Amino acid sequence: MSDNIKIAVPKGRLFDKSIEILKKSGIKFADRSARKLSIDATNFPISILIVRAKDVITYVEYKACDIGIVGLDLIREYEPDLVNLADLGFGKCKMAVAEPIEKIECWRPIKRVATKFPHVAEAFFAKAGLPVEIIELYGSIELAPLYGLADQIVDIVDTGKTLKENNLHVVEEIFSSSVQLVANSILYKAKYRLIDEITKQFTSS
Ligand code: PRP
Repeated sequence: MSDNIKIAVPKGRLFDKSIEILKKSGIKFADRSARKLSIDATNFPISILIVRAKDVITYVEYKACDIGIVGLDLIREYEPDLVNLADLGFGKCKMAVAEPIEKIECWRPIKRVATKFPHVAEAFFAKAGLPVEIIELYGSIELAPLYGLADQIVDIVDTGKTLKENNLHVVEEIFSSSVQLVANSILYKAKYRLIDEITKQFTSS
């Protein structure tokens, strides 16, 4: 069993803060070219793999990485079988239901809800006892109610700017999300000393 620890780090809005935490915890990296997608630490047996946020879960579930940095929003959506090691306390946002500020008449017998989080949305409306049709989209969710594709959206709200710019507002908060450190459950059992040490470093930095 190799003692090298591979960490799946999300590209995009969580990338800079994730790298900052890794560096603050004492991990040093050589400079990388912009297209290099994996980096080895120069002072520890640690490598990081830079992947799409959604793919962090897949890399860790399939043991391609030991641990990963991923938002609670994605964990709630995919409910992966992973060990949750720590809340890293950044990337705070809310999962919320939003709709146009100027209410558009809903003529459909069943309300349509557009979202990138169909599982979260379905569970939320089922619990509320409200029948809805879920429309899965991959981005720019805020457009859906403005152009008649849906009546409401379920999406993450960070600064709230996207909702505001598109004349939408939150009507219900579903849960608060922040970034979590997760591990593959089998690899965690095999390397728990090292992984616990890394977790401590990350959470105390
Ligand atoms: C996310 C989310 C909202 C926006 C919220 O989209 O789906 O659209 O960010 O952020 P805000 O509250 O700070 O405005 P993302 O930027 O990931 O782009 P996407 O629409 O292409 O998924």
